Amino acid sequence: MVQKNQNLNIKKLIVDHNKTIKDVLNNITKNGLGACFLTRRGKLFNVVTDGDIRRSLLKGFVLKDKIKFVKTKKFVSVKESHDFIDLQRKIAKYKLIPIVDDFQNVINYANEKRFKQIPQSEPVFKGKELEYLTDTIRSGWISSVGKYVNLFEKKFSKFTKSNYTLATSSGTAALQLAISVLKLKKQDEVIVPDFTFVAPINAILQCGAKPVLADIDNETLCISYDSIKKLVSKKTKAVVIVHLYGNTPELEKIVKFCQKKGIKIIEDCAEAFGTTYKKKHVGKFGDIGTFSFFGNKTITTGEGGMLIFKKKEHFHLATKLRNHGMSPLKKYWHDEVGYNFRMTNMQAAVGLAQLEKANFFVNKKIEIQKKFSIKLKNLKNISFPKKDIKIKHSHWLTYFRIKNFEKDKQLRNRLLRFLTNKGVEARAGFYSAHLMKIYKKYYSRKISYKNSINANESVISLPSSVNLTDKEINYISEKIKEFFKH
Ligand SMILES: Cc1ncc(COP(=O)(O)O)c(C=O)c1O
Repeated sequence: MVQKNQNLNIKKLIVDHNKTIKDVLNNITKNGLGACFLTRRGKLFNVVTDGDIRRSLLKGFVLKDKIKFVKTKKFVSVKESHDFIDLQRKIAKYKLIPIVDDFQNVINYANEKRFKQIPQSEPVFKGKELEYLTDTIRSGWISSVGKYVNLFEKKFSKFTKSNYTLATSSGTAALQLAISVLKLKKQDEVIVPDFTFVAPINAILQCGAKPVLADIDNETLCISYDSIKKLVSKKTKAVVIVHLYGNTPELEKIVKFCQKKGIKIIEDCAEAFGTTYKKKHVGKFGDIGTFSFFGNKTITTGEGGMLIFKKKEHFHLATKLRNHGMSPLKKYWHDEVGYNFRMTNMQAAVGLAQLEKANFFVNKKIEIQKKFSIKLKNLKNISFPKKDIKIKHSHWLTYFRIKNFEKDKQLRNRLLRFLTNKGVEARAGFYSAHLMKIYKKYYSRKISYKNSINANESVISLPSSVNLTDKEINYISEKIKEFFKH
């Protein structure tokens, strides 16, 4: 919650209640906030909005009438030591809120713009998004036919250096297509991490196969190699690697092991756009890589996804399944039971513009993580992920972990509440899937879920939008330090 316009002279928002309607209108016109504060003997008396004045004029008031006789709507004020959540609620209801000291002197003001919470992640449109999007609307090609889908796929191929790329309506649709092309049967098992956003687990279930939950590696938060080894059975047909928060697991070991066993690998790179391992983009180590362009992702199309394939056959089958299983040679002739998972030309237009700025987005995310980790490096209670020179970690969201959380299980929640109260949208990580009733039956007694549970209790992600300012990074860091001082 960094207050913008810090140098504002609050006196410019204040009019004495003995002044006229005209004086107030002049003030509101100048301050541009749609309202102003009335005082009586210097103390807060009322808040009057342009709407209040409009209504009074309609009722017969004239400009030279005293403002104090104008009927206003109910107003609220807050103290300087206000509770942030309470203020957010009030801001949603009231246009302009005076902040007063103990003597009712107006010392500041709050409105939506000024006391906005610093979000985890918000989209940034700095390129040709509007131009390309307008082009699709002008052309009339707003559904999945049109030049942008192709252009977006081609550019994505170039960025990831992949031969076969397919755009979809969401990251979850991409996962579902990836699993569908493997043609799994009911008893087939797919090993998937227990600590993840649930999309890959749901996709496995939607395709009729059985997810088998694996533990994660304590350092990378990605699926653990040891866990995969212990869980593999004759029924195992695939492993889903989730590159959580932009991390990557022991890729070479996992790939080698799976190849030897004839197990397919799907890499869920929804959170890892821009992450490379030994200079190769993630998503290219297994058989199929999937991406998400949801609004909080590093590049966005609103909703949207992408697949990259190693094998041409997988690509062709997924292309067909994306479009209801329709034969590419004969319109309305279907030889597979498919889906409508097509990306629209409008989504792709935005995606193409975003992709043109891809390096800027990725570098900015990396920079944000670096700044936070430097600012907070002396805090003994938290740890940031270790660096690995083989990996270019794209840091979709900057996160840290609470150390020794076992000693004080409420510490993380208290920190989250503290930050929320200070206007910072910090979040706990995901929940371990096996803790949820609907996924519990997919856990295995062969392994322990210690690392997943640990992550479930200790991760905190911080605001990481590409447009996060240094001032905001400083503010957030100072608040975290302040919390740990007590
Ligand atoms: C790891 C992971 N996989 C898959 C998805 C699903 O992507 P989408 O929301 O585009 O369906 C997400 C998030 O949105 C995700 O974080």
